[in-house]
Parts: sequence; structure tokens; C-alpha cells
Amino acid sequence: MDMKDKTVNEKFIRTIVKKHGTPLFVIFLNNLKERAQNFRKLLPRVMPFYAVKANPSTPILKYLAKEGFGFDVASRNEIETVLKLGGKPEKMIFANTIKTQEALKISQKNGIDLMTFDSEYELAKIAKYYPGARVLVRIKVPNVGSVVELSLKFGVEPADAVSLLIKAIKLGLKPAGVSFHVGSQCTEIANFTEALELSSIIFKDALLKKIHLEILDIGGGFPITHFDSETDQFPAMAEKISSELDRLFDTNTTVIAEPGRYLAGPVCTLITRVIGKSIRNNKHWYYLDDGVYGCLSGIVYDHCKYQFRVFRRGQTQISTLAGPTCDSFDVISFSEELPELEFGDIVYVENIGAYSIATATHFNSIPPAKTIVVS
Ligand SMILES: Cc1ncc(COP(=O)(O)O)c(C=O)c1O
Repeated sequence: MDMKDKTVNEKFIRTIVKKHGTPLFVIFLNNLKERAQNFRKLLPRVMPFYAVKANPSTPILKYLAKEGFGFDVASRNEIETVLKLGGKPEKMIFANTIKTQEALKISQKNGIDLMTFDSEYELAKIAKYYPGARVLVRIKVPNVGSVVELSLKFGVEPADAVSLLIKAIKLGLKPAGVSFHVGSQCTEIANFTEALELSSIIFKDALLKKIHLEILDIGGGFPITHFDSETDQFPAMAEKISSELDRLFDTNTTVIAEPGRYLAGPVCTLITRVIGKSIRNNKHWYYLDDGVYGCLSGIVYDHCKYQFRVFRRGQTQISTLAGPTCDSFDVISFSEELPELEFGDIVYVENIGAYSIATATHFNSIPPAKTIVVS
């Protein structure tokens, strides 16, 4: 039985719940191995830099560092954590376009010299606190249909990219390339193809100005499935990205990516139990021991929809799932088709590894779910 089977195995879940209680956040390391291998196999030209923000759990970072993955870090703490767990400075990119002075100084101290920017002000800041750093200009690209839209807050107009790279040279920085993000949980292949096309134009325009760009960073956004009814879109997407990379970029171009969700999402399962029950407006409400202030925070911050699974069988009815805190905002779902549940019944969610425990809070002094690792 592979480890993923364990997540859908009632006996296994009941055993770990008996041992550890709930709420429980289970990391399946064998699945991570599979995802990591798959990413490399399907995008052979692309060096993956795991986006730590998706799930900074130590076992995940340690495993990926051991496997030689790079890391996309977004803050001073992420830099320090990754370094402590075995990440190499030359395989890290500071891919937050808004960096603090302190974080830049820490980057310099540790030789993490590759970073993204998307404004003149950021360039000046980088030049001041990390003179000589290598910079990638982040461009605004279509985010159509992506669940988490990023082009509103980030990215310069592609037409301004080359002049900003010239500005970088004037400030004593090294223009290294172009980066983009098509939006998280992107299911539109066209977002990638258009972004690649735009980037290749910038590479060519830069060359006309005698700026030789070496690195293309295709960001994150690679989608996963949450429901049984969905098909995995990644293989077709990866095939298209690969052929476009070969068509648009010569083999000297180093291509990197910042996958977060693709690696972390499917490798974790959240197990909760029913701790409260009521009937409100003729509808059953079940209160779980985790909610939107905990590992289900992705409902809010990640706009995520999950498939809730139970072991109890029987006549189903539309029910509400809510979290354990004293806030009426803490409602997980108003319309889940569920059999009548009892206190102590298990409700679990697979594919919840990304933007879940990373954004869990301690509201009501309830700590995030206990993490366990299955390898
Ligand atoms: C700069 C950057 N890189 C990578 C990622 C990871 O994206 P994803 O989890 O969709 O792969 C994000 C997510 O917000 C991001 O902001």
C-alpha cells in the first residue's frame, strides 16, 4: 500500500487519531518524493525552487533540501529557516518584490544574491543594502482564471522591463533575467504561453541593448486537484511549457520555477473531529475542532474549496461545517452533503498541504493542528 492509500484508509486514520488525537495535520513524505520526482520529470528543463510560503514545515524543507531543490524565500525568517535546514545560498531566490532592509542585509551576509523586483524604489533599496546583487525584473502577466490573482499587486508592465534593467545597471546591480507568476492554482495554459512569449521578447530587446539575460523564472501556479471529479491538468501544461521553452529560449538560458502548491498541496491531510452539533434553521450544523482560523484558513486566504470526507454512512442532507472559535466568521462550508454525524466523528480533508498550516493562527488560544509525518 503506498502512503497515499493510507490517507483514504479508515483503519489507518483511526489508528493515528487514537494515538495523536485531533486536529491532526499529516505530512506524507512518500507523496512528496513522488511529486518532486514528477515535477522534475515533466519539466526537465526547469530547476525547481520550492516556494517556502506554501508550507514551511520542517520535514518538507529538510526533504527538499536533501534532494537538491532550490528555495524561493520571501522573508528574513524563511531565509534563516532554510539555511538552518540545509538549503544552499546559491540555490535560493529572494522572490518577494517587497523586501525589508534587514532581510536584504541577511541575504548579503549569506550570499543569497538572486532576487526579484518590480519597481524603481525597490531597485534603489536593493542597490543600497545589497550592492551588486543579481536582479530579475518581475513582469505583469495574464492571471486569467487563476484562483489566486497576483498581477494586481505585482509586476511591471512588460514594456517597462528593459528600461528598469538598464536602471539596475546604473545602480551597480546585475540584471539577470525576467520573472513572472501566472497566479496560483492556474488552470489556463494560455497564461503560461503568453507569459513565456512576453518574457522572450524582453530577452531579445535586452540583447539589442547589449544586456545578456541568463535566467528565466516562470514562478509558481502549477495546479493540483482537490475533488475526485477533477482531472490533473499539470501533465498537459508541463508538456506545453516545455515545448514553448524550447521554441522561445536558447539552451543557454537557465530556467527556474517556484512551485509551492504543486509540491506541498497533495502531500498533507487534515483530520478533524466533530466537537459540537446543533440544528439551526432546520439544518444540521457540525462544529469541528479545526476551522478557518486554523488549517482551514486557505478557505479565506487561498480562496480554496476542499472535499470533506467522513466514514459514517447513511442518508445525506445539506449541512453546515463550522470551526471551533467564538466568531461567526468561522464557518467552513454552508453546504456539505453529509450523513448525520455524531460527536467524535472524523471529518478529514486531503490535498490540504498548501496555504493551510502556513496561515493558521492561534485565535481563541487554539493552536494549529498537531503535525505528524508519515514516511
Ligand atoms: C512569488 C511567488 N512565487 C511562488 C509562489 C508559489 O505559487 P504556487 O503555490 O501557486 O505554486 C507564490 C505564491 O503566492 C509567489 O507569490
